[in-house]
Amino acid sequence: MFDTDTSNFEANEFFLNEFNTNYSVSCSIIGKPVGAVILLKQRAIPAEGVVIMEWGMANRMAQLIQSDGHTLFLPVDHGYFQGPTRKLEEPGKTIKPLLPYADALFITRGVLRSTVDPARTRPVILRVSGGTSVVGKDLANEGITTSIEEAIRLNVSAVGISVFVGTDYEKESLLNLSKLVNEGERYGIPVMAVTAVGKELEKRDARYLALASRIAAELGARVVKTYWCEDFEKVATGCPVPVVIAGGPRVDTELEVFEFVYDGMQRGAIGVNLGRNIWQNEYPVPMIKALRAIIHKKATPQQAQEIYDTGKKK
Ligand code: 5RP
Repeated sequence: MFDTDTSNFEANEFFLNEFNTNYSVSCSIIGKPVGAVILLKQRAIPAEGVVIMEWGMANRMAQLIQSDGHTLFLPVDHGYFQGPTRKLEEPGKTIKPLLPYADALFITRGVLRSTVDPARTRPVILRVSGGTSVVGKDLANEGITTSIEEAIRLNVSAVGISVFVGTDYEKESLLNLSKLVNEGERYGIPVMAVTAVGKELEKRDARYLALASRIAAELGARVVKTYWCEDFEKVATGCPVPVVIAGGPRVDTELEVFEFVYDGMQRGAIGVNLGRNIWQNEYPVPMIKALRAIIHKKATPQQAQEIYDTGKKK
């Protein structure tokens, strides 16, 4: 998956000569351009096939996605519509021990400002959509809650917004995404689209998730968060930008989590945006360490289980 072949440097020269003024340099993480230009092999390719990123955008993407092309985002944003959900009643206490193991935090401005030490943080993906709650009429009826100026003031690495494909608010949520992308691109701030599943779409199949993920990428999301499903490669290959997988409600065993994360990674995800199955676990630190091993060290589910079991005993 991770291409370390250097033979293309020659091809680079060919293209640079051949296309002279009409070339772009991109880099590839699992075949999808993300713009971490310094760390990865450069390819010069004709302009029509390439995404060009300016330095600021490329720098923010590199803060989010590690040099191996993979990442572990830790979402703690659930309170924006669920209130003080279990094990996130006091978010500062939940976040603190997990922070060293997260490649980025997905969080709202309220919780960020009140619980995260600005001198000891990790890259931030700011949740900027909301306006609905679990007791309200329709969770899909979200708006943009936080301005791009606030995102800049908070020095975030990305902003995140939900889209609700197939719901009554499909159009509004997709236009919100587009508006946010327009603003984010102006300042070099990547947008992560969260493909939330509406009430009537609880069936998370590859057809639906591929549709929602592709639409989000087409509208300009730089990263897409979706769910793991059977045949996940259909979701990943149909989405031209990096895809991370969420966990959803807590599942019965740790091994199930390790298995779906491992499977998703084999089928093209670059990592996770996984919350409840980490911080609602009885041993959240061993859990996040075990997941890091799958994501960054190519551990199998069984090896991850051993890491978790060993961590539990300490
Ligand atoms: C909440 C979110 C969460 O960030 C996302 O669902 C990931 O968390 P979990 O793994 O707990 O599902 O977008 O709306």
